[in-house]
Amino acid sequence: MKDKYERNIDYIRISVTDRCNLRCRYCMPDEQVPVLPDGELLSFEEIERVCRILPKVGIRRIKLTGGEPLMRKDIAELITRLKKVEGIEQVTLTTNGTLLADRIKELEAAGIDGINVSLDTLDPERFGHLTQRRRLEDVLRGIKALQTSDIPRIKLNCVPMEEINGDELARLAALAKDSRLAVRFIEMMPVGNGQQWTMIPEQTVKDRLTAAFGPMTPAKGSFGSGPAAYYMLPGFRSPVGFISAMSHMFCSSCNRIRLTPDGFLKSCLFFGGGTDLKHLLRSGADEELLDAAVRETIWEKPRQHPDGQAEENRKMYQIGG
Ligand code: 5AD
Ligand code: SF4
Repeated sequence: MKDKYERNIDYIRISVTDRCNLRCRYCMPDEQVPVLPDGELLSFEEIERVCRILPKVGIRRIKLTGGEPLMRKDIAELITRLKKVEGIEQVTLTTNGTLLADRIKELEAAGIDGINVSLDTLDPERFGHLTQRRRLEDVLRGIKALQTSDIPRIKLNCVPMEEINGDELARLAALAKDSRLAVRFIEMMPVGNGQQWTMIPEQTVKDRLTAAFGPMTPAKGSFGSGPAAYYMLPGFRSPVGFISAMSHMFCSSCNRIRLTPDGFLKSCLFFGGGTDLKHLLRSGADEELLDAAVRETIWEKPRQHPDGQAEENRKMYQIGG
């Protein structure tokens, strides 16, 4: 359905857990990381119930995120169920890749339509510093497994930060060169701890890639249906993409809503507003009431995000990006 600003909302990001086995400094709080007690997480039954409503309001694609979604051990079971929901055309996953290598077969068998791996550096020391865990080898194994799998849409997501990877953007982009992996650069957003880092704007990333590989040209064909703009570099098999919420405000074409692990339906990443679906689900709401709540949240989606820090107190690991 369309929101009050005529944007067509057809995509939802569902965060299935706030737990994560990494501690990326831009995502997690500096102090101890509070996580939800198990009973506060939506059960798979509850997530499935929400997802049965979604096609009725025009949402056809689902992204599962976290925290780290593979921390929910039977996530493949949820994927299998969601793939059976009539009207849902695509179920994809965003993961930090650490647990991927051993789980890829079950994800494939469940019918996952695509997987994005988040990776910001190829240097073990820097990875250890940024994520506060020494797991780069596991992520690289995960990426290899992905590249040799039959999973259709595979992408790497990288957040450029001067302090971490400013000098290795070309090396990261090169993962797209001889592989079917698209590499996307996501501008750091001032949500949670994001503002504490020196974000590298899209144009600077493009300049560095052009200096390394030669001029880039807009990619033909379609790669995904979100806000990313894709380009081909000379001699590359797969495109590089840019998601630049800061340089190019794309709010006017935003197509998505978000569900937090504790069942709060958010209309915008940058605002706290939305609807407590968990409360509705657990207080006996029928389909009609749930349907109305989802419609109301979509309708009330804010026009655009604020210029500075987000008006949202949740951290990224509690939203799912
Ligand atoms: N800005 C942009 N991207 C972020 N991520 C986490 N925090 C931020 C932020 N403040 C990214 C992670 C991961 C994805 C789910 O969100 O790197 O790729
Ligand atoms: Fe975990 Fe992703 Fe947050 Fe890193 S960015 S701590 S991998 S949820």
